[in-house]
Amino acid sequence: MTPSPHVEVHLTPEDLARALRADVRAGLGSRPRELPPKWFYDERGCALFEEITRQPEYYPTRREREILAREAGHIAGLTGADTLVELGSGTSEKTRLLLDPMAGAGQLERIAVFDVSEPTIRVATAALAVEYPDAEVHGVVGDFERHLHHLPAGGRRLLVFLGGTIGNLGPLERKWFLGELASGMAPRDALLVGTDLVKDPVRLEAAYDDAAGVTAAFNRNVLVVLNRELDADFDVEQFAHEARFDRDNEWMEIRLRAVAPQVVHIAALGMTLELEAGESVRTEISAKFRRPVVEAELAAAGLELVRWWTDAAGDYGVSLSVPAGR
Ligand code: SAH
Ligand code: AVI
Repeated sequence: MTPSPHVEVHLTPEDLARALRADVRAGLGSRPRELPPKWFYDERGCALFEEITRQPEYYPTRREREILAREAGHIAGLTGADTLVELGSGTSEKTRLLLDPMAGAGQLERIAVFDVSEPTIRVATAALAVEYPDAEVHGVVGDFERHLHHLPAGGRRLLVFLGGTIGNLGPLERKWFLGELASGMAPRDALLVGTDLVKDPVRLEAAYDDAAGVTAAFNRNVLVVLNRELDADFDVEQFAHEARFDRDNEWMEIRLRAVAPQVVHIAALGMTLELEAGESVRTEISAKFRRPVVEAELAAAGLELVRWWTDAAGDYGVSLSVPAGR
C-alpha cells in the first residue's frame, strides 16, 4: 500500500491573506509600483505557467529538461543523495528525471517538495507517492523567502531549485536566500540550481511574450487574483502585458501597463489607486545569468561550484554546488 504523503502547511489561507494585503499595500501604494511574482500562482496561474512551458518561444523548460535527461544519472552518483528536497516544485515534472536514477540505484529514501501553492503540493505529493512507493513523500506549503527553516532535515540531501525560479528573486533577495539555504546545509548535502543564461534580447523578449498570449494571460492573472481576494475592480483588459530585457541588470522586466487612465478600488484595503495612461506595475523580474555570476553568488553564500552543465545550444545552465571546504 502506498503511504499517504505528509503535508505540512506553514501558510494557512489566513497567512496568505495577510501577506497579500501587506504586499499590495506596500507595492501598489508607493512608486515604482510593483507586486511580488508569488501572487501569480493561484490554481489558474499554476496552470498558465504549465501552458507557458509548452509554448514554442519559451525554451528554458525544454533546455533544462535536456540537461537533466543527460546528467541525472551522473548527479545521483556524484551526490549519493538519499533525499531529494525541491523548492518552488510546481508539478515536479522534470524532477522525475532525477528521482528515477536515484530510485533505480536503490538510494532514494525520501522526497520533499516545497511550494507556496497548497493545491499544487497536494496534487504533486499524491502523484509522487504513487510513482515512488518505496520513498517517504513529504509536502511543505511555505514561502521560500520566509520558511526555509522548515525544510526537512536529515539524510543525505540533494536540494533542487529548478526552472530558473532563482532569477525571479532580486540580487539582494538572492543573496539572503542562498545564504539561508547554505547555512541549513549539512556537509554532505548538495544544491542543484537551474539558471537561464544571458542571450539575444530578441529571443528573451519573445520567450516572455509568446504569440499565443499565454504569458500575457499569466501576467494579467495577478490582477484577477487581486480582484477576487481583495474585492478589487481592476479592468484586466485595460492593462497591456510588457516584457523587456534590461541590459544593465541583465534581467527580464515583466510589467502591466495601463492603456488608459484608471481609477481602481481595492475594497478590502480601503485603497483607491489612480493610474495615469502609460503608468506601469512591475510584476516580475527574471534574471539571466552568466557562469561566473552564478559561481560568485554561490561562493558568497559559502558554496563551492563543483559541476556546471549547459544544454547543447548553451541557452541554460545547471550548477551543482556543495558547502565550501567540506
Ligand atoms: N520548478 C518548476 C515550477 C517553476 S514555476 C519548474 O521548473 O517547472 C515557479 C514555482 O515556484 C511555482 O510552482 C510557484 O508556486 C512557486 N513559487 C513562487 N514563489 C514562491 C515562493 N515565494 N515560495 C515558494 N514557492 C514559490
Ligand atoms: C518560474 N519562473 C522561472 C518563470 C520565468 O521564466 O521567470 C516565470 C515566468 N514568467 C513569465 N514566464 C514565465
